[in-house]
Amino acid sequence: MTSRPTALVTGASRGIGRAIALGLAPTHDLSLTARSTEALANVARDATALGAIVRAIPCDIADPAAVSAALDGVVCDVLVNNAGVASMKPFLALSPADWTAMIDVNVHALYHVTRAVLPGMVERQRGHVITIGSTAGRNTFVGGTCYAGTKHFVMGFSESLMLEVRDAGVKVSVVMPGSIETGLFPPGTDTSWMCTPEDVAGAVRQMVETPPHTLQFIVEVRPLSPKRRRDGSARG
Ligand SMILES: NC(=O)c1ccc[n+]([C@@H]2O[C@H](COP(=O)([O-])OP(=O)(O)OC[C@H]3O[C@@H](n4cnc5c(N)ncnc54)[C@H](OP(=O)(O)O)[C@@H]3O)[C@@H](O)[C@H]2O)c1
Repeated sequence: MTSRPTALVTGASRGIGRAIALGLAPTHDLSLTARSTEALANVARDATALGAIVRAIPCDIADPAAVSAALDGVVCDVLVNNAGVASMKPFLALSPADWTAMIDVNVHALYHVTRAVLPGMVERQRGHVITIGSTAGRNTFVGGTCYAGTKHFVMGFSESLMLEVRDAGVKVSVVMPGSIETGLFPPGTDTSWMCTPEDVAGAVRQMVETPPHTLQFIVEVRPLSPKRRRDGSARG
């Protein structure tokens, strides 16, 4: 790594995580994780072209032993807990596997990954933990028993952690996206009105760039209106 600041981004193989990695690449060296080795290598190549020194770390963050092996020795100024899984189904349609996958990635992995790098931030008296929550972290909806539950967890986790580590110079923030055009939505979904992953990456960049004495704790990034496409034309 160079003297540039460093960032670790989870779920960097596609979607919002990919955009965050590429958004930080001009100013940060990067450690990027996800399970898809080839997709991660492609993002690493694109981030390298933007000026970053990049370490791609294939890892299943639902596996605590894999996380601790993969992140051993990783030093970062910014952690972006982005990886997430969403199965939006009514409670009685959720399989045990759906339930467990969401809890493992959206909840338990926040502990595994944050626990691996936070001690270094506290020791250096600087750092920033940014978790990608969701507007589902303050809303409820049919099909949200588990997903919305995990995103409500993000809010309690993040505000408590923020209060615990701010005196050590470490910032904790949440970005709450609304609907963002990614593979999280089934093929065929009309995404013309949604925000883009780059819109969320812009909010992360803005948070990272706040002066040391200032904390942007929560930023919500949502489409202006489901009735207007991104190009401004009326929808439906
Ligand atoms: N899209 C939206 O409208 C929206 C709205 C609100 C919040 N969010 C949140 O934004 C975050 C990113 O979502 P997205 O829309 O970009 O989804 P996505 O396109 O499906 O990407 C999810 C990312 O998480 C990684 N991931 C999933 N399970 C993993 C595991 N077990 N180990 C390691 N990495 C794992 C995936 O990588 P691999 O499959 O390669 O492992 C992928 O890089 C999530 O936290 C999501 O809840 C999204």
